[in-house]
Amino acid sequence: MTTPRVVVLDLEPADGNPFPEYEAGAHIDVLLDERVPGGPLVRQYSLCGEPGNRKRYRIAVLREENSRGGSLAVHRLQVGDHLPISAPRNNFRLSPARRHLLFAGGIGVTPLAAMARQLDVTGGDYTLHYCARSATDVALADMFTDHPRVVLHLDDQPAEQRLDLRRDLGDPVKDTAVYVCGPGPFMDYVLNTADELGWPSTALHKERFAPAAAADDLGPGNGFTVRLASTGTEYHVAPEETVLDVLLRNGVDAPSSCQQGICGECVVRVLAGEADHRDDVLSAAERAEGMFTTCCSRALGSSIELDL
Ligand code: FES
Repeated sequence: MTTPRVVVLDLEPADGNPFPEYEAGAHIDVLLDERVPGGPLVRQYSLCGEPGNRKRYRIAVLREENSRGGSLAVHRLQVGDHLPISAPRNNFRLSPARRHLLFAGGIGVTPLAAMARQLDVTGGDYTLHYCARSATDVALADMFTDHPRVVLHLDDQPAEQRLDLRRDLGDPVKDTAVYVCGPGPFMDYVLNTADELGWPSTALHKERFAPAAAADDLGPGNGFTVRLASTGTEYHVAPEETVLDVLLRNGVDAPSSCQQGICGECVVRVLAGEADHRDDVLSAAERAEGMFTTCCSRALGSSIELDL
């Protein structure tokens, strides 16, 4: 189940009461307080156990030597340690499509593993394509070995078994939903190829672990005014700050979690003004409905009004 680089943790309620329910695709925040030099640090991890199991949550965490310390702290945890976690949140739910194609790169398998479990229970039609470096790098291997709906693609094995999206994704099929999770280059490869093959954006669902490179390149942007609809209060957002920074500094009770535009926890509705979206979580439809991430998105003009 674990690999040389991935640890699998089973979390049980410290107070004995059942955990909140969740659906496949959900993640939790894990508070790594004193375990991280310069902490506290909050990290999001997808739940990869059986959805519906309220006695135990399972997460799997890749050890990343160049990270800011969160994954290393998780790898140092011992059985019996107490770990504060949030209730599950879900921005990556299974759609009601007739068929699901799931594409996982490395540790990106975690939310898709929960989806596969859920679809197994409900009798859903799906295929999970799981790309890993080698057989020893396959996390949650006990679940995937000899599973009829799981196709492993291993980098160190012959070319013909590696992921071939023209074969494994193919042309668009009606009522089929595509789910992608993994490192940025893997996701870009799958999503760009899906686009080239003609898949509509509404059929594509993604969850990133880190902001897309393009978002990093956008720079801080211009200063602008943010107005809160509930009170009419206005605040100036300087070029080097985020809307969320300004809200929190002024005591506004604004939700947030990843602060990188990938979890969706900070989303609010724009009531006036035009948004400069810089997140990697909202779909085109959600943006068109006026959804806005305060942790990274900005105003295109001189002001924006939020439903806060
Ligand atoms: S806090 Fe995660 S998207 Fe804004």
